[in-house]
Amino acid sequence: MQQLQLTLAIIKPHAVKNPVALSFIRNVLKQNFIVVKTKRVTLDQNAASVFYKEHVGKFFYNRLTTFMTSGSIDLHVLAHMNAIQLWRKILGPTSVYKGQFQEPYCLRGMFGLSDTRNVAHGSDSPDSAEREIKFFFPEFSVYQWRKEDEEWYR
Ligand code: PPS
Repeated sequence: MQQLQLTLAIIKPHAVKNPVALSFIRNVLKQNFIVVKTKRVTLDQNAASVFYKEHVGKFFYNRLTTFMTSGSIDLHVLAHMNAIQLWRKILGPTSVYKGQFQEPYCLRGMFGLSDTRNVAHGSDSPDSAEREIKFFFPEFSVYQWRKEDEEWYR
């Protein structure tokens, strides 16, 4: 069933530093989603360890948190019908190697460098989207956004 959803996209440090990748990704976002909120931040280790707490103990945890604190990241709250699935589809598989061979036109296939430096993050469920959006945009109210959105289209 199609439903209006929000999701969180995080453009990872290597893609933020790459002007070609970044402008391509921004165009993809604008063409496919309503970009509801955007900001650029630099995570510290503490924030990264809270955000990635579900991966504590995995072999890539240190690599991932070190990388995600190594430079600026761009955060985007995206809205669309089935936004979570759509953004993950556009991104392609977590494994860049798979992306390059199976879906070469996905963002990870085009700009990914490794399974950690795989261009961007996308929430994997409505619950994680809610948690992640609240983590980075604590002031954001879905209810308020829906109200403003409905008024705008009235
Ligand atoms: S998992 O294993 O199902 O939890 O993987 P996934 O949800 O797809 O990925 C979660 C984040 O971990 C990173 N990741 C890796 N880094 C390094 N090496 C390997 N093998 C690896 N597998 C997953 C991946 O980049 C994801 O980062 P985010 O920021 O969540 O996209």
